[in-house]
Amino acid sequence: MDKIFDVAVIGAGPGGYVAAIRCAQLGLDTVCIDDWKNEQQKPSLGGTCLNVGCIPSKALLESSENLERANHKFAEHGIKIEGITVDVPAMIARKDKIVKAFTSGIGMLFKKNKVTSVHGRGMLRKRPQDANVWEIEVTDEQDAKTLRARHVIIATGSSPRSLEMAPVDNINIFDNAGALALQTAPKQLAIIGAGVIGLELGSVWRRLGAEVTLLEVQSDFLPAADEQIAKEAFKVLTRGTGLNIQIGLQIQSVKSLKNRVEIEYLDQAGSRQKLSVDKLIVAVGRVANTTGLGADAAGLKLDAGGRIEVDVFCQTNLPDVYAVGDVVRGPMLAHKASEEGVAVAERIAAKRDGSTSSIGEVDFDTIPWVIYTSPEIAWVGKTEQALKAAGIAYKSGQFPFMANGRARALGETAGLVKVLADAHTDRILGVHMIGPYVSEMIAEAVTAIAFSACSEDLARIVHAHPSLSEVLHESALAVDKRAIHI
Ligand code: FAD
Ligand code: NAI
Repeated sequence: MDKIFDVAVIGAGPGGYVAAIRCAQLGLDTVCIDDWKNEQQKPSLGGTCLNVGCIPSKALLESSENLERANHKFAEHGIKIEGITVDVPAMIARKDKIVKAFTSGIGMLFKKNKVTSVHGRGMLRKRPQDANVWEIEVTDEQDAKTLRARHVIIATGSSPRSLEMAPVDNINIFDNAGALALQTAPKQLAIIGAGVIGLELGSVWRRLGAEVTLLEVQSDFLPAADEQIAKEAFKVLTRGTGLNIQIGLQIQSVKSLKNRVEIEYLDQAGSRQKLSVDKLIVAVGRVANTTGLGADAAGLKLDAGGRIEVDVFCQTNLPDVYAVGDVVRGPMLAHKASEEGVAVAERIAAKRDGSTSSIGEVDFDTIPWVIYTSPEIAWVGKTEQALKAAGIAYKSGQFPFMANGRARALGETAGLVKVLADAHTDRILGVHMIGPYVSEMIAEAVTAIAFSACSEDLARIVHAHPSLSEVLHESALAVDKRAIHI
């Protein structure tokens, strides 16, 4: 192909497809190369997030939470349903339909924005020093071709980290993709790794009837979260017939037998334990996708963790080559990937326009985290332990959902919101939440931090009554010890 694109994006997950669309919006002639194939072996845009991540997991979380409500929560509203039955294949089919709508939607967005979409695996070729065009070799089963572009954005994402002693066979042992496609709920399910995927998928299958045990090597539960919130989460998620979360253990062996998996581990006290389950999910983190990308040959530098090394503007060590999303440092989150994609697109367009402004840096302090358990967990900014470690003097205010009218009406009273503000300037440094719909509530905290608001600003904003947002309002008031309803 003689044509020279302005930008070639490798990967069509939320980092890559968003970057490609933004580039096209800015008038850059853009091609997006992606190699994902779905279960039917058909190309499917959207990467991990749309195919086997954010979207399908949330679809199943919602379906299974509806069952939980029908089984355990409707009765207190005076609604009694007898003979509830569950059709897991119907739930999976609904999830697949949602995935299909979104993945094909990206194809339409590409068409609308005139992004050229190419299916295949992209490999960067070494660029001669005096050239200003990159060559990318694209291969799929049918053929191989070479594309040329002035700029390259690598957005190849990540894949599940494997555990040598527990290889995924999709019969007894599953990764996230397999765990989102089970057609029946296992009776006993073990999950190695009590991180974000373990908690979300564990919640799905527990609600659908499985006895779920999470096996976690670290003795801290959810170490990235604020300690108080993590403790509250542990308490709420493990109570009653909830998740059985074992922390501080060491897996010794995993045996996949006919229809059973046997796991041996040393518990926190060092005693040998055996667990026999019918299915096992491995969710022990993710690794950057750099294999086959031609990094070595092209001279692309990776960091110690195997991710592509980039600066704050997502610029790699190679001229005109950027990398965004899971394949680079920072949290592995879809919205972080997309923001980096937009930032890089705008930087490339600014360079074309001769602008020297330093646009294009994503502020990690305003990236929200959400864990879609029940109750949900969400945060933005610094945790209390991080502020202590950095020696930053802070004030704290918190308020429980128990004292909120809307939460009472919902029957969802577990949890709290905590606001952390600078002791001298009152600027909000972090907001931490566990409770109903905090995935939605966190947006107000993100806006506040992005606009450098003080806790006093949040305290003076009128919040609708009765609404869950009043819990954030009251926590901001509590920073100055003037919460009203407690
Ligand atoms: P990816 O989405 O991984 O996309 C990369 C794409 O590049 C893929 O299509 C891949 O096949 C393709 N590719 C790789 N190498 C090549 C190559 N050489 N040539 C061509 N194509 C290539 N994040 C959230 O923010 N919220 C959530 O609720 C959430 N839930 C999740 C649930 C699960 C079960 C999982 C696994 C992840 C979840 N995530 C969530 C994380 C989120 O999916 C990732 O952070 C996000 O997908 C990263 O986007 P990306 O564009 O960097 O990479
Ligand atoms: P994770 O890093 O969140 O959790 C992995 C857990 O496995 C850690 O707690 C780790 O200590 C544990 N672990 C590692 N090796 C182990 C071993 N040998 N034995 C026992 N435990 C072991 O990674 P996870 O859950 O795989 O998710 C990957 C990423 O995907 C997340 O970090 C997150 O960025 C993203 N994600 C985001 C979601 C969201 O935003 N709601 C939902 C799901 C995933």
